[in-house]
Amino acid sequence: MRQLPNPKKLLSQQTRTSGIKPAFHTIETPAYVFDLELLTDNLKYLDQLAKALDVKIIFAQKSYSYYSTYPLISKYLSGSTASGLYEALLAKEEFPGEIHVYSPAYKTDEIRQLLEFVDFIYFNSFAQWQKYLDLINQAKKARKIQVGLRVNPEYSATEHDLYNPAGRFSRLGITAQAFEQGVAEYGLEGIDGLHFHALCQENADSLAKVLTNFENKFSAYIKPMSWLNFGGGHHFTEANYQVDLLADILRNFRLKYPAQTIYFEPGEAISLDAGYLVCEILDIVQNEIKIAIVDTSATCHMPDVLEMPYTPRVFLLDEQYCEDDYYIEAEIIDDELLKEQTIIKMDNIYRLGGPTCLAGDIIGNYKFPRPLRLNDRLVFCDMALYAHVKTNTFNGMPLPNLVTLKSGEGFEVEREATYFDFKNRLGNMTSRQD
Ligand SMILES: Cc1ncc(COP(=O)(O)O)c(C=O)c1O
Repeated sequence: MRQLPNPKKLLSQQTRTSGIKPAFHTIETPAYVFDLELLTDNLKYLDQLAKALDVKIIFAQKSYSYYSTYPLISKYLSGSTASGLYEALLAKEEFPGEIHVYSPAYKTDEIRQLLEFVDFIYFNSFAQWQKYLDLINQAKKARKIQVGLRVNPEYSATEHDLYNPAGRFSRLGITAQAFEQGVAEYGLEGIDGLHFHALCQENADSLAKVLTNFENKFSAYIKPMSWLNFGGGHHFTEANYQVDLLADILRNFRLKYPAQTIYFEPGEAISLDAGYLVCEILDIVQNEIKIAIVDTSATCHMPDVLEMPYTPRVFLLDEQYCEDDYYIEAEIIDDELLKEQTIIKMDNIYRLGGPTCLAGDIIGNYKFPRPLRLNDRLVFCDMALYAHVKTNTFNGMPLPNLVTLKSGEGFEVEREATYFDFKNRLGNMTSRQD
């Protein structure tokens, strides 16, 4: 095996925050900024990891669809995976490499289109596979298509029900019992691989447990497969990722199943910590505590903050509060802590909220290095994943601009948000214009 790369050698957290330059003052807000140097750092690491472990890493587009960077990503990864027709079409147009697609259920017209260009198609039930078998067999006469089934290992270490694909009553993946019934009824001829996805921001120890369950429940079916896909949720580019443990897990697995190509399809790990959301303070109001209203919104621009929930790291752009070229990060104050009078009375404590009508459009509570002022700029970290693909225009909120930060070249506005992003989603814009 080649030398394993060490995730601790990825650009450090400090280097990542030092990417926040005063020039962030020059761009229009709100804006997502995608940092190519940080993205490339992750990609080079993943490329080394895939080579060292002799696995294929493909890119789960659902986490990051900033497609002007797809040519860069495709230089380092074997291909991409899509959650349905539209992401698959985006891959066809923008991402050279293998195209995989998995959806919990397909419509006939989607399948017809997908079978024209995808390389791998995964089904979530025997019934869906059988429904489209004739179309698949027809398409296979013209081109090579690999077919997979997603199974449910019925174990996940994920604590949040919202993100647990292996939780009770989950619709995602075929359970061992349903699989056995499916095999008894239809056999497995024409199935090339098995897929599971049961991790969320997890380390190799979680993979070990999921894999043990997968093997225990599906061992009879693994050997005839030509490939296996271990899904996403692997936090490969996180500094504490247990890469040696991952190598051990794969070594042991291959003693039993040496012939199968192993795929991983992470999303988050590709763009982890490689982007920002920049905003500006519009007003500061007082209701027991100080509340700064910013021109971005948790519910519209960073919905995971509410869904997970979590509080994102934030920096105040002020050169005076920049030590050794590194900005000083605001301290996150827990909601419970904020209930204590001593904390409420402390200086420079602010709650940050969006300008929508939703009372819960709250980004978090923070202690800043100085009192906030109108027009101050704030930079939220780790915003190059999931945030920009989950945006909405509730209340007519403008979408953030999409901006690329190129090392040595500065900012390039890739897409400016307009009123028409809002209007176009809600009706037929062209019919009203004449
Ligand atoms: C089937 C599947 N594959 C891959 C991923 C990517 O996961 P992550 O971004 O956590 O790595 C997801 C995320 O939900 C998924 O559902």
